[in-house]
Amino acid sequence: MALKITVIGTGYLGATHAAAMAELGFEVLGLDVVEEKIDMLRRGEVPMYEPGLEELLRRHVAGIEGSTGRLRFTTDYAEVAAFGDVHFVCVNTPQRHGEYACDMSYVDAAFASLAPHLTGPALVVGKSTVPVGSADRLAAYLAEHAPAGADAELAWNPEFLREGFAVNDTLHPDRIVVGVRSEKAEKLLREVYATPVEEGSPFVVTDFPTAELVKTSANSFLATKISFINAMAEVCEAAGGDVAKLAEAIGHDDRIGRKFLRAGIGFGGGCLPKDIRAFMARAGELGADQALTFLREIDSINMRQRGQMVELARQALGGGPFLGRRVAVLGATFKPDSDDVRDSPALNVAGQIHLQGGQVTVYDPKGMDNARRLFPTLGYADSALEAVRGADIVLHLTEWREFRELDPQTLGEVASRRLVLDGRNALDPELWRRAGWTYRAMGRPTA
Ligand code: UDX
Repeated sequence: MALKITVIGTGYLGATHAAAMAELGFEVLGLDVVEEKIDMLRRGEVPMYEPGLEELLRRHVAGIEGSTGRLRFTTDYAEVAAFGDVHFVCVNTPQRHGEYACDMSYVDAAFASLAPHLTGPALVVGKSTVPVGSADRLAAYLAEHAPAGADAELAWNPEFLREGFAVNDTLHPDRIVVGVRSEKAEKLLREVYATPVEEGSPFVVTDFPTAELVKTSANSFLATKISFINAMAEVCEAAGGDVAKLAEAIGHDDRIGRKFLRAGIGFGGGCLPKDIRAFMARAGELGADQALTFLREIDSINMRQRGQMVELARQALGGGPFLGRRVAVLGATFKPDSDDVRDSPALNVAGQIHLQGGQVTVYDPKGMDNARRLFPTLGYADSALEAVRGADIVLHLTEWREFRELDPQTLGEVASRRLVLDGRNALDPELWRRAGWTYRAMGRPTA
């Protein structure tokens, strides 16, 4: 009989995983403790913007016309325990307030709620990004608190999806990593992932700590690439070089690769910044903090980029305070194709300029509601054109396709000055310059 799967936590990760599991043919029950989220999902609505996710969900959510009916939702842990053979824990692990370490309270709460209901054989699979050592601790917790004892087993299976590509990354993962302690657990997970593995996704079997570390080290490597190229941008700026050309040229070396070498205002979001900080904190606890001191530098290069963007804007406007200056900000989300504004470099830059007296007007294709909630005192416009109207300077801070496709000529007709700063090195400098704009980007020559 086909496996029955539950997914605990229905945020970015969980909602996508649940829908993907249904797409792979499994009966799936998703759980969240937030009642409103469950109500939305039952109607086939996604609580965030993620391309393709709503369609995938609607294809499977029970009760939606024409759906397979394979995907249902609940808030009841007892129902989840009774239903599933494999339980994926997908709750979030945010940064602890005022600390580097990550907050494990949602993971711990999920295990505490599930364990007492596990009366028969079950595989609990952690997907959340956690400090190394958590799986060992949670396995011991399960053994002690699940009535099924050793029959309630743990596995660790980190998730590598990117926002904006979550559906594709989940259905066609680059790799599937499973930390297991028994052949039985491995066999069950091979069954769950049989389709992507058949389609070519590598299946890597490890122990618990390695599985946990694969995730944090992958994110650390990605963060390092971005901060490396941003450091090179700073040197290019000082030496008169062009970081975009430099990235292209070094990227031709396969060992370096071309991806993740776009210089600009740096990384943000709910993963990279907090994951590298939690990794440093955990290494400290393990007595291995020396090994990761470089991540402190990666983090500070990244945070410095935001301040440098503000300074670049100030200089471009002739120096001095921002008071009375009208600043158009294109982009609010931490990356395109997402409505996520968590730790968004764009909003950080906008907020700094606003605090320094600038009259900031923000436009973003999908992030307006979230941005308004987080920064209610900033100005907002309903389109790029409206944001730019009367502006002394335009800051391009999130590289949405919509912004690359803007006509600089039309914008120039409504702007007060034709001055654009490209904080993402993603606009075409020649196009803007031909339309009479002064184009500036970090780490690139002025003309
Ligand atoms: C990241 C990892 O990529 C993913 O594998 C992991 O599961 C979760 O964390 P995500 O947070 O969705 O995914 O964003 P990502 O695409 O990695 O981008 C992170 C940030 O880096 C964005 O703010 C982006 O604008 C920035 N970035 C990315 C750069 O500044 N330059 C680049 O070259 C690439």
